[in-house]
Amino acid sequence: MRLDVILGPQQLTPAEMTGRVVAVIDVLRASTTIAVALANGARAVIPVESSDEVVQRAKSFGREHVRLAGERRMRAVPGFDFGNSPAEFTSQAVRGKTVLLSTTNGTGALLAVQGARDVVVAGYVNFSAALALLRAALRGGTDVSVLCAGRERQFSLEDAACAGRFVRHVRERFPEVELNDAAVAAELLDRRYDSQLDRLFTDAVHGRALAGAGFAPDLALCGAVDSHPVVPLFADRQITKLGPERER
Ligand code: MLT
Repeated sequence: MRLDVILGPQQLTPAEMTGRVVAVIDVLRASTTIAVALANGARAVIPVESSDEVVQRAKSFGREHVRLAGERRMRAVPGFDFGNSPAEFTSQAVRGKTVLLSTTNGTGALLAVQGARDVVVAGYVNFSAALALLRAALRGGTDVSVLCAGRERQFSLEDAACAGRFVRHVRERFPEVELNDAAVAAELLDRRYDSQLDRLFTDAVHGRALAGAGFAPDLALCGAVDSHPVVPLFADRQITKLGPERER
């Protein structure tokens, strides 16, 4: 059994996807936002490449059923209902709606995964729920990859540390699982920061950028471990919540 961490979508190879369970992490903020939207009752989140595509795809929905969301340089795309702040995706705002979402890194990472058995969106807010899916995969003999979205094709500290937390907790149950070097390094990062996620986000370039842009409250939301215990699964071009109607 293998557990590999991939530190950015540009490093992804077919061997690390095909037939595997792949967890995609963009802690700040896309994967957090997706988990929050689904936990708060969104019908689905559809990740799309560009803001133009959000506008195009929205035309195939009745306006009352769809919400347009996305950011560029952390700010909401003009004319959209929401940016990419998890705080915006309240139950009142999204319940029963389909959210079309385009972000700088996170949605692109999701769209880069091809041929996986299952794709789960993971972060700190749904850590234990996503971990249970990864452990179940390994228990059933399916290899796992954890893909970090990164930041503009660069390494991202918070995604790697969160990936490392998955590695650490998987290894507690499956000490014999084989790791790649990125998984070993990611686990060391998680051990370094442990529960000090505020420090992690202060050390991280994107954490500081978000705080500087006025999104400091989002950092607390993104670091609230297990606050939104959902398993968002990406299949058939949309992300929906694993639930009684969609068991694995
Ligand atoms: C992204 O997908 O690049 C991020 O989620 C950016 C952000 O913080 O909105």
